[in-house]
Amino acid sequence: MSAVKGSRSHAAADALVIRRAGDLGSAAVRATAAAASRIITAALDDLAGRQGLPAFDAPEDHAVPTLSHIIETDGGRFCLACDGDRPVAFGAGLVRDAFSYCAGLFVLPEWQGQGLGRRLFEAALDGLPVAGGATALTSNAANPVSNGLYARHGIYPQHALLVLCGPAAEVRAYGAPRRRGLDAEPLGPAHLGELREIDEAVLGFDRTPDHLWFLSRPDHPGWLLRRRGRAVAYAYLGGDHTEGAGSVGPIAGLRPGDQAAALRFVVAELAARGQERATVVVPGPNLTAQRVLWESGFAFEGVTGLVCASRPFARFDRYVLAGDSIM
Ligand SMILES: CC(C)(COP(=O)(O)OP(=O)(O)OC[C@H]1O[C@@H](n2cnc3c(N)ncnc32)[C@H](O)[C@@H]1OP(=O)(O)O)[C@@H](O)C(=O)NCCC(=O)NCCS
Repeated sequence: MSAVKGSRSHAAADALVIRRAGDLGSAAVRATAAAASRIITAALDDLAGRQGLPAFDAPEDHAVPTLSHIIETDGGRFCLACDGDRPVAFGAGLVRDAFSYCAGLFVLPEWQGQGLGRRLFEAALDGLPVAGGATALTSNAANPVSNGLYARHGIYPQHALLVLCGPAAEVRAYGAPRRRGLDAEPLGPAHLGELREIDEAVLGFDRTPDHLWFLSRPDHPGWLLRRRGRAVAYAYLGGDHTEGAGSVGPIAGLRPGDQAAALRFVVAELAARGQERATVVVPGPNLTAQRVLWESGFAFEGVTGLVCASRPFARFDRYVLAGDSIM
């Protein structure tokens, strides 16, 4: 990899001002999200080419729904570097209780290697983690530039993140949650308190803003699983809306086995909706989910990721991610 990738001088990049999205009206949120989604698409396509992988062929606006949610909830930490009025790079921080998350860091290829990524990363996560908290992110394991940048800021790789893809109907064959004495009901706003209790036990923080967003999307159905009336797991279809129609997640369970039952249930729902392939983003320590998927004929898709964090956090043996932009 060359030391300086961009064609511009470092001084040109240094002259760009970093702006925060802040509170925007809905049209401005969408325009900002569309610009950021174009930057992601160009940066990932360029990266795939350098890694010898197939072109990143998602539509340019593939990340607009997720980015709009991120701007709406954490606009003060959505930082853009603009060349005139044109955004050329962005970094996004999310804060949920004492947990903070870098939800994206992308620089247009022609502006890379000139200090913008570092400036945006530091601006988006300025003052984080708060005392006693943790800052985390997910990264592409094959990118030494981003992983080096994060590690030099004290955010170290902790777990592999496996994108597993396979036949949805095969998972169904492993049986319904009822065998574990579980009942599933469709998620709605009335469940927010129970979702928070599961998140606090599994992730260590309250992510109500993200549940409200998931629940607002008709293409993102979710279910709560109960045992003898007690909420023990939840599962959604849809992921973070960036991984395609067969995406599954997030999924969390108070126990690994209940989480695996929730995974089976939700992939069966996907198959029942006529979706042949499922895509699941599984942390390495989640052996129960891995076992379900490997035994169902799933295989690696794309590049393995990394969960990086300033300190260990969350119980990843019972959690499946929404994707790589909203953990
Ligand atoms: C990763 C990315 C955001 C970094 O932004 P950037 O503007 O290119 O990076 P910077 O110029 O700010 O450099 C950041 C650090 O990496 C180093 N670096 C940059 N390019 C490098 C290269 N080609 N080789 C080795 N080191 C490099 C810099 O020296 C700098 O080091 P420092 O932390 O000691 O200051 C950007 O390259 C990008 O968008 N890549 C593709 C998408 C991607 O992978 N995003 C991250 C998702 S996990």
